Amino acid sequence: MDKNAEKIQCMFDGISPKYDLLNRVLSFRRDMCWRKKAATVAGIRDSDTILDLACGTGDMMLTIRNINKKCRIIGADFSQKMLLRGAEKVNEPLIAADACALPFCNGVFDKITIVFGFRNITDKPLALREMSRVLKIGGQVSILEFSRPSKLFSKIYWFYFRFILPRVGAIISGHKYAYGYLPESVINFPCETEYRKILTEAGFSDISFTPYDLGICTATMAVKTDNS
Ligand SMILES: C[S@@+](CC[C@H](N)C(=O)[O-])C[C@H]1O[C@@H](n2cnc3c(N)ncnc32)[C@H](O)[C@@H]1O
Repeated sequence: MDKNAEKIQCMFDGISPKYDLLNRVLSFRRDMCWRKKAATVAGIRDSDTILDLACGTGDMMLTIRNINKKCRIIGADFSQKMLLRGAEKVNEPLIAADACALPFCNGVFDKITIVFGFRNITDKPLALREMSRVLKIGGQVSILEFSRPSKLFSKIYWFYFRFILPRVGAIISGHKYAYGYLPESVINFPCETEYRKILTEAGFSDISFTPYDLGICTATMAVKTDNS
């Protein structure tokens, strides 16, 4: 694991006790609605085996389970402390794993969900190749991530995101860096052209982007079409 990834792992270990509370407070509870929308559009079937990657404390796993009682869900994350919090909430297998070196055989999952985690992965092309490798052909990845909102709303949003959110985040979590890093990681996220390119190069097609709440976050869906 590279030094930046280690730093991110430490950061999530550090904020794990307050992570859920901060999500609710800083998003005004919209995070729950965004996960629900993303889980609904993922079109989960009873027979699906789903990997929730960068599962953190397991909120997406809970959302998926509320929508479908029969599918199999496995959570994976490289922060042990986020997983320990998750273990108090979810009744599904949780595995400590780096998204860039997944400990699964080829072609075992029908779907992968990754919610507010992809932005944090330091080697995104490698992680996408790993996701593609462990998905069945025809399997689908759903990535929900913060994005840059539409012009109409962008001034108020950036003011909140760059000045209010890092301060409130630092006070509640006790970690100054973590919530200052959040806007930085959204700004540094690949543009749509680059994003499409790395998805395509990892073997995905049928790529679609659906903005939620004026583009505060965007759900990306793509289908694994070959074994590249
Ligand atoms: C913002 S949290 C999102 C957690 C959860 N998915 C949710 O919806 O709340 C990001 C998560 O990504 C995980 N993460 C970041 N980079 C990772 C990597 N390379 N491999 C595995 N997990 C990673 C972090 O440990 C953290 O738990």
